[in-house]
Amino acid sequence: MSGKKEFSRLPTDLKPTNYILSLQPNLKDFTFKGSEVIEVKVEKATPTVILNSADIEVQSAVYSAGGSGDTNIKASVEYNKDHEKVTLTFPSDLQVGTGRLQLEFTGELNDKMKGFYRSKYSSPEGEERYCAVTQFEATDARRAFPCWDEPAVKATFDVTLVVPKDRVALSNMPVKSESASETDPNLKVVTYERTPIMSTYLLAFIVGEYDYVEDKDSDGVLVRVYTPVGKKQQGDFALKVAVKTLPFYKNYFKIAYPLPKMDLIAIADFAAGAMENWGLVTYRETALLIDPENSSAKTKQWVALVVGHEIAHQWFGNLVTMEWWTHLWLNEGFASWIEYLCVDHCFPEFDIWTQFVNADLGRALELDALHNSHPIEVPVGHPDEVDEIFDAISYSKGASVIRMLHDYIGDEDFRKGMNQYLTKFKYSNAFTEDLWDSLQDASGKPVHKVMNTWTKQMGYPVIKVTERQDGDKRVMTLSQEKFCADGKQPEGTSSYEWMVPVTIMSKSKDVKKVLLEKPSMEVTLDNVKAGDWVKVNSGTVGVYRVQYTSESLERFIPAIKDKSLPATDRLGLQSDLFALARAGMVSAVDVLKVAEAYINEDNYTVWSDLGMSLGGVGIILQNTDSYDKYKAFTRKLFKPVADSVGWDPKADEGPLVAMLRDLALGKLGRSNDEATVAEARKRFDAHVAGTTTLSADLKSPVYSIVMSNGDQEAYDKMMKLYDGADMQEEKVRISRLLGSIKDVNLKKKVLEFAMSDKVRSQDTVFVISGVTNTVEGRELVWQFVQDNWSTLIERYSGGFLLSRLVKIATENFITDERAKEIEKFFAAHPAPAAERTIQQSVENIRLNEKWMNENATRVTEFLKSY
Ligand code: BES
Ligand code: ZN
Repeated sequence: MSGKKEFSRLPTDLKPTNYILSLQPNLKDFTFKGSEVIEVKVEKATPTVILNSADIEVQSAVYSAGGSGDTNIKASVEYNKDHEKVTLTFPSDLQVGTGRLQLEFTGELNDKMKGFYRSKYSSPEGEERYCAVTQFEATDARRAFPCWDEPAVKATFDVTLVVPKDRVALSNMPVKSESASETDPNLKVVTYERTPIMSTYLLAFIVGEYDYVEDKDSDGVLVRVYTPVGKKQQGDFALKVAVKTLPFYKNYFKIAYPLPKMDLIAIADFAAGAMENWGLVTYRETALLIDPENSSAKTKQWVALVVGHEIAHQWFGNLVTMEWWTHLWLNEGFASWIEYLCVDHCFPEFDIWTQFVNADLGRALELDALHNSHPIEVPVGHPDEVDEIFDAISYSKGASVIRMLHDYIGDEDFRKGMNQYLTKFKYSNAFTEDLWDSLQDASGKPVHKVMNTWTKQMGYPVIKVTERQDGDKRVMTLSQEKFCADGKQPEGTSSYEWMVPVTIMSKSKDVKKVLLEKPSMEVTLDNVKAGDWVKVNSGTVGVYRVQYTSESLERFIPAIKDKSLPATDRLGLQSDLFALARAGMVSAVDVLKVAEAYINEDNYTVWSDLGMSLGGVGIILQNTDSYDKYKAFTRKLFKPVADSVGWDPKADEGPLVAMLRDLALGKLGRSNDEATVAEARKRFDAHVAGTTTLSADLKSPVYSIVMSNGDQEAYDKMMKLYDGADMQEEKVRISRLLGSIKDVNLKKKVLEFAMSDKVRSQDTVFVISGVTNTVEGRELVWQFVQDNWSTLIERYSGGFLLSRLVKIATENFITDERAKEIEKFFAAHPAPAAERTIQQSVENIRLNEKWMNENATRVTEFLKSY
């Protein structure tokens, strides 16, 4: 990064113990009034108090020592905008002891989806209205009230909301009392029970109009799902998941959920996917609402994962919180792992752990091979740096190293250690080391030593395998070195070394586990016949790539074809190969030949991952004359599986078949398979005409095929469907693929549409992303982002949506010249919280160029036979 931003944590002379906080949002002029009494402990006499505060005006600040309310002293107020702090200076020292700090203040209900903000919705009568909601993580509680806005400064909160009397008002705790306002008959005053001791980033306040469905879990916890008015049945699915999930975690951690209620609520304008506010979890509509008729299997799976993720945080994050954002990965990595455990428990039919290998491990390995990656534990200070680490390293690599650790120490010891950790640090904070202490204690294994190599240094190893047959034994030599996406070791590389739990499986399914602690080691497997395959990283649980000799690799081919190699291994094998080819460590043509061995594949997730690998190559080949041939190659590969799933669901087929159908037909159609395109058009026209409605699972492939092969007429029809859609799921489905239309002028229209008020600001980036799947589209988008930079930065003011935008707008170019242009642009136009993303994009572009130089000619030659 281009230099650390100046930053310091708040002084600790004074600590809050309880906030008595009252907020009154005005839904007409988008302001709010607030007052707070902060009960504090002065630990060192001081005349100044420094709090976090941003975009808030403090009207008065007074202090009274102890209980004696009559010795008020008044402070002068000074803001430090850059540091998001306010300094209160008193005429004399506040003495050691307890006291009450009383503040009156006002602020704006902003439209930036952070802090205390406004969100727009239409009433059932179609009238435009606003609700007031909060999003405080990571550092935006300070936009709602002056506070010690650091995760380790925990306190209790007595919240009061003063709101229009016909509105629903929610906070973390149940209502304690409600009364009419004494000053305004149109207002009511709602006071909530005191919260447990907690961090500021987990508070939440919501004022709006909602319906809800409710149930109790097996322990009597009241669970409600709040939905837009008139749509409460769309909360049923999430309600079922939540009611099952709470007792699941209680049983897993052996610690009860500590609050009396759990609300889940869909918010129309929401920057992230969901937020784990204690007892009041907020979601994007698409991450919570399910309509049994119109929601796809994929959306159901997504809702289950998100609910499982956020409810896990109620323990891991809310009850025990990271001491500082450097340890954010503890929160997010852990929740991103255990959400799978939860979904596997609730819905075994999703075979969700196989999907982990694609969605999380794969994502982590891709990003973490870059020279511009970062260690899981990374020092951060300034809010921009904090925002930047909500990335695939904290989430997906974090989850992946936890999965590897869980496998290494076993479920029983893992659970024992988790319980010890959560019990020891409840209502308090912890460092990464504290978790290792407990897990080491429970397992007796060297958890600290092993895990430090994964969380404190960036990257991961490639394990190179050589084999020798010795009678009925196989002698394997494993050696590790850092895996780099470009195949080039960085300077000072000898310092990179990992302690790698390695699992090896032979054709007879015997498994051997070893810990690779040195640059290389020998492992001998008994009872392996000459010619048998031996798979390193069995189950694809380890966070590393594997490189075999071509002779060893050859032995897997029949096992891929007849699927005797397990699905996670089939998935991992091709994923490693595509990455090795990108690094120049194997030939891309050899890898495409291995891909041909997947012709009989029937596993959704394996196809999905292979499809992504091939898609990556396709993006580069779009710049060559062989792209049409490459599409033919893709058609040939996907044809058998598309034929076998067909267009119409069979009775009792599981959700994975529906997802596989979506994937296979979509791939074929987007590769211009004539019969598939014709069938998609037929079904689309029938759907538009209202004669035969498309089933929820067929919408995505049909829409995407029609658009990518379509013209103005298709575009207009699709737009009409968009306008008529009631569910956000459908609007998002359509808007994200509008950009795949071929005509450049229509693509331009999509970009205009993305910025129009027909698209919610939270979705704009994904609509723009839809335009980037062709060479011309990428040119348009990059130009568009440059032309509209000031609007975009104003809209997303930092935040992770901006870094997503930067990523999608830049990473798929293929020339060094373009990389330089991008660097130059961002040198002149700083993008807070996206600096690392820019460097990663530029690195990716140079990798694409390298691939072109090294492989294009031979791949073109290979594709001639298609
Ligand atoms: N704590 C996060 C929400 C969050 C994300 C806050 C980014 C601030 C910045 C929440 O638990 C989360 O991880 N949400 C995910 C969804 C989840 C299922 C991976 C998200 O919003 O993408
Ligand atoms: Zn999370």
